[in-house]
Amino acid sequence: MFQIGPHQIDSQVILAPMAGVTDRPFRQLCRKLGAGLVVSEMVTSDASLWQSRKSRLRLDHTGEAEPISVQIAGGDAKMMADAARLNADNGAQIIDINMGCPAKKVCKKAAGSALLRDEPLVADILQAVVAAVDLPVTLKIRTGWDRDSRNAVRIARMAEDIGITALAVHGRTRADRYQGEAEYDTIAAVVDAVSLPVFANGDIDTPLKARQVLDETGARAVMVGRAAQGRPWIFREIDHFLRYGDNVPEPSLIEVRDILSSHLRDLYGFYGDFMGPRIARKHLGWYLQTVPGSEHFRQAFNRMDSAQEQHDSVLQYFEQLKAREDQAA
Ligand SMILES: Cc1cc2nc3c(=O)[nH]c(=O)nc-3n(C[C@H](O)[C@H](O)[C@H](O)COP(=O)(O)O)c2cc1C
Repeated sequence: MFQIGPHQIDSQVILAPMAGVTDRPFRQLCRKLGAGLVVSEMVTSDASLWQSRKSRLRLDHTGEAEPISVQIAGGDAKMMADAARLNADNGAQIIDINMGCPAKKVCKKAAGSALLRDEPLVADILQAVVAAVDLPVTLKIRTGWDRDSRNAVRIARMAEDIGITALAVHGRTRADRYQGEAEYDTIAAVVDAVSLPVFANGDIDTPLKARQVLDETGARAVMVGRAAQGRPWIFREIDHFLRYGDNVPEPSLIEVRDILSSHLRDLYGFYGDFMGPRIARKHLGWYLQTVPGSEHFRQAFNRMDSAQEQHDSVLQYFEQLKAREDQAA
């Protein structure tokens, strides 16, 4: 469908990088369910921090489907170049640069979307990273620093000149944080201005919305973040709709149970028996957020420390849901 360097991407829907969410188990699940590309959580460009448990887990790509795209963030060109090289040595096949994240932790150090204000620094960082690795380098930006300085088009042209191979644009400025509706006009202007593949991002939460955003912007693909939390099958739904123009049926209760069960097992395997059940809590909350009356079960689940107990309780809970569904039918 489109290329990123030598890599052929076969679906027009991509998982957005989300720190604390898009860990390896979640990325693998989304790929299996139709995401054409997944981007790993942000790894700090400060390699001295890589020995922390968190960074080590983020750097673990064992068994991941190719191409492996790893996101880096930071405000120093040399450190970013070093981080790109280290990630390349560690198995990354695409380096993605984060200039799209408004997180305080990142912005305070003038990284993420805060960089958009300083175009010469953006150029320095892009040049340094592109020169550092023999891999395609992609970039993720917002539409600008604030509404008065939407410089996405200028940044996009600069990125293309420097040799960036694909660009994801979140239709908000840094100052918007996550408020208001994403605006797609600036994304359309970026698409018009450059010839590299552009991915449209922001508030895409249904197959129809994906179609509309692609039509409105002319982007090569859509990138989906929050709507995939607890609903990883959204990639299959969007992928199918974009290909054939009709909807696949919602997953059955049994299928949701099976997806969740295998997701939990992967989390326990990846994070271990102590962290695994803790990380599982937020994912379970997302899966059940649209299930009426699930609050009580969620609270009970959150008190469980044992992986086995959590997993068994989910199977039992779905038995109850199924019985309720059968009764209603
Ligand atoms: C919990 C969370 C963590 C995020 N972490 C990152 C990140 O590490 N790097 C990045 O480029 N964007 C990050 N983002 C931004 C998303 O990639 C995406 O641009 C944003 O959520 C808008 O897309 P959506 O409306 O589909 O969620 C994060 C967003 C959320 C909600």
